[in-house]
Amino acid sequence: MEIITWTKSFSVGVKEMDDQHKKLIAMINRLIEEQHTLTEPETIAELLTGMTDYALEHFRAEEYLMSEYGYENQARQVKSHEEFIARTMDFMSSTEIGPNILSKALLEYLKSWLVGHILNEDMQYKAFFAHKGVS
Ligand SMILES: [Fe+2]
Repeated sequence: MEIITWTKSFSVGVKEMDDQHKKLIAMINRLIEEQHTLTEPETIAELLTGMTDYALEHFRAEEYLMSEYGYENQARQVKSHEEFIARTMDFMSSTEIGPNILSKALLEYLKSWLVGHILNEDMQYKAFFAHKGVS
């Protein structure tokens, strides 16, 4: 599985959000890169928990910015963020996969969700924040 490469096309025009997206991408990339060498359940659980904790922190910051400026699609964003956390938690506790196992399905989900979310949903606020003078 290829890692995610952040390019200019990922930029939402707000530096703090771009920086947080880059960090989240780096955390998911680490899981992709080390998927075959990570065997210690505790380490996998730690990395996944660290990633979801950071995602929550990022979502909070993003939603705060949206509410500060009255972004009209905030409710949809909140729903989407909640779904990501819930789905990731489901993967982590799935008895089918087994706890603490880095499955291909989980990695594919993390990667496609984040890329799709940034490029489709977050990109929709780019013009909005630019218009408000937020960069
Ligand atoms: Fe978002």
